[in-house]
Amino acid sequence: MNYDVREILIAAGGRPLIYALYRAIVDKDDKVIYSVPSWNNNHYVHFVEGNHVVLETTAENNFMPTAEDINPHIHDAVLIALCSPLNPTGTVFKREELEKICDMILPENMRRSDDEKKLYLMYDQMYWTLTFGKTKHYNPVSLRPEMKQYTIFIDGISKTFASTGVRVGWALGPENVLAKMKAINSHIGAWSPMAEQHATANFLLQKNIIDGYLSNFKMELEERLERIYEGFQLLKKEGFSVDACAPQAAIYLTIQLNLVGKKIENNPVLSSQSEVTSYILNEAKLAVVPFYAFGASKDSNWYRLSVGTCKKEEIPDMLAKLKSALSKLT
Ligand SMILES: Cc1ncc(COP(=O)(O)O)c(C=O)c1O
Repeated sequence: MNYDVREILIAAGGRPLIYALYRAIVDKDDKVIYSVPSWNNNHYVHFVEGNHVVLETTAENNFMPTAEDINPHIHDAVLIALCSPLNPTGTVFKREELEKICDMILPENMRRSDDEKKLYLMYDQMYWTLTFGKTKHYNPVSLRPEMKQYTIFIDGISKTFASTGVRVGWALGPENVLAKMKAINSHIGAWSPMAEQHATANFLLQKNIIDGYLSNFKMELEERLERIYEGFQLLKKEGFSVDACAPQAAIYLTIQLNLVGKKIENNPVLSSQSEVTSYILNEAKLAVVPFYAFGASKDSNWYRLSVGTCKKEEIPDMLAKLKSALSKLT
């Protein structure tokens, strides 16, 4: 892709760029379409007092929104917020589905008159380098070059290089939107520190070092995710009420804990996902985040398991503790 310097904005990570993007595009009561579970879109829409159009996704679609889900809402929306690979699910868009979404946004913008607001697409691809096996990352502008005028990419170093503390992120997008984001970031003082920008710029040019680092990093992540996924499949086979989606990308595994209504003998039943979360934390010493923390409905029994701090040698013990915690439930 080719971007001019005026179409690139660097800030202290992805977060201030996402915030500035929402502020630049969304006025009070403007419609923003986003799927849940997803990372923080609910909070950003709340910040800007937008009108939430929430699409609850399902395991059948790997928790990714489809063009069919989005289509009924686009005629008066100003922003569609998409993320792939997705936090919290570790799943990605299929090429055909992303193409269908672009092929909906382009005619919708053609339909709008010059004095109407356009329909923009935020494409958060913070985890795009971390795909496994045959999984490929696609982006709207490579698939449909006309999408360049409506797409704002969010990207950065914090996930790819496990460097959340080094604050460098970048947005790519149309100059008119980026100029507004730049003004907003100036006022909130969200620039990336100069030393960190220079260091990152130097580092990103060292392609061989990055390739070497990434192939090892991805191998280590994939091994952890696959081993835990296989552990969940085994538990499922043994009759426990759990499941998991095959890992595709990022540092997350989507797991299902279907435990509401179960109990330890002589104890009250687990009556909510929040009680299930506490039970698994206390009994199995496993910290997982329920999808309702990412905007999904309170009764969704799907969870995010992150391998961000997971040591390989601890996986067998972790699965054994989980099995023991599940075995106590009837
Ligand atoms: C999908 C997604 N986008 C953006 C961010 C923000 O990243 P940064 O650390 O660069 O602010 C995160 C961080 O968790 C994320 O998961």
